[in-house]
Amino acid sequence: MIVLGIESSCDETAAAIVRDGHELLSSVISSQISKHAQFGGVVPELAAREHLKNITPVVTSALAEAGMDKRDLDAIAVTSRPGLVPALLVGNAYAKGLAAALNIPIVGMNHFLGHIYGAFIEHKEILEDSGNFPLVALVVSGGHTAIVLIPADGKAVILGSTLDDAAGEALDKAAKLMGLPYPGGPVIDRLSKEGNPKAFDFPRSLTGRAGKAVNPEHRYDFSFSGVKTSLLYTVTKEPSLIPDRLPDLAASFQEAVIDVLTMKAMDAVRHSDAKLLCLCGGVACNSRLRTKVEAACLKYHVTFLPAPPKFCTDNAAMIGGLAWHYLRRGQPCDANFGINARLEPQLGLLPFAPLAGLLT
Ligand code: KG4
Ligand code: ZN
Repeated sequence: MIVLGIESSCDETAAAIVRDGHELLSSVISSQISKHAQFGGVVPELAAREHLKNITPVVTSALAEAGMDKRDLDAIAVTSRPGLVPALLVGNAYAKGLAAALNIPIVGMNHFLGHIYGAFIEHKEILEDSGNFPLVALVVSGGHTAIVLIPADGKAVILGSTLDDAAGEALDKAAKLMGLPYPGGPVIDRLSKEGNPKAFDFPRSLTGRAGKAVNPEHRYDFSFSGVKTSLLYTVTKEPSLIPDRLPDLAASFQEAVIDVLTMKAMDAVRHSDAKLLCLCGGVACNSRLRTKVEAACLKYHVTFLPAPPKFCTDNAAMIGGLAWHYLRRGQPCDANFGINARLEPQLGLLPFAPLAGLLT
């Protein structure tokens, strides 16, 4: 089955063609970063205008790259939630129009689940082996930071999520405080390589030690407002730290964020006896995070599966690939689905889990 995936939930207009969930025939991404950089963040109205301009050329390129005509498509999948409403509207209106014109099924996909699926596009064999389950997914992006437990039957639960900023958002805001360009995550990653992560002692929010969260109810939740405030006080008190100690500041801030992500994810892995930890979402590109989580997995004898960087940041391959799993299990295709800005707390049955099919 050949699925066209369309993604427009934030500031990337993307289209990809994926065969049977795992074979990537093309993937095209048009980033709007340069348009939003001057505002220090994504402006929803501007994002929608850019999607409108880019969506037709992006889909046309994806078809050309795959050597296909739109009549070769069997289905369309579009990110319908969560995301910026004006941005989602463009992708959804386009996708529904195209599906109606071609008279093929269309499904609305959950972007958050798409990020998790990004780790598995090239690893069908891992999904098919129930010995890799339960697994824990650490989803870290600009919009989300959460720990998800996925058992072999696909009944996934969000164990915890951020109470305030997402990790990527915290990195982007910290970069802004340090006068660095948007998006700050990759800049902090690069700059940190020249800095000392122990130079400044920023707080590790909500947790003293893994498993000993302040409130057991929030054992797997995150909060990054404290570490951000601490950075603000540090640079306000001593303005000369910028630019003199920028690499040290960046490395220390990054380390504080990463330590908490790693500790909480490993706590969840150990507590749920997970066999595998997957790392996904835009922040999963971070080199230091990848190194630290990999080392922790090695220590606890857990398989580490980081999404490849091309499937970490927003892309449509994760949407087109994920959709195949729903479609092959007979997901009803009613084009009347709506869009939703927020992530629903219930993820539903994940169709890519190896024993999910036995329940349907
Ligand atoms: O997944 P994504 O493309 O969009 C959302 O769904 O949010 O993630 C974007 C986020 C931004 O906050 C960006 O700063 C962060 O991912 N990011 C990184 C790196 N590359 C992207 N953060 C840290 N280190 C990186 N190398
Ligand atoms: Zn995303």
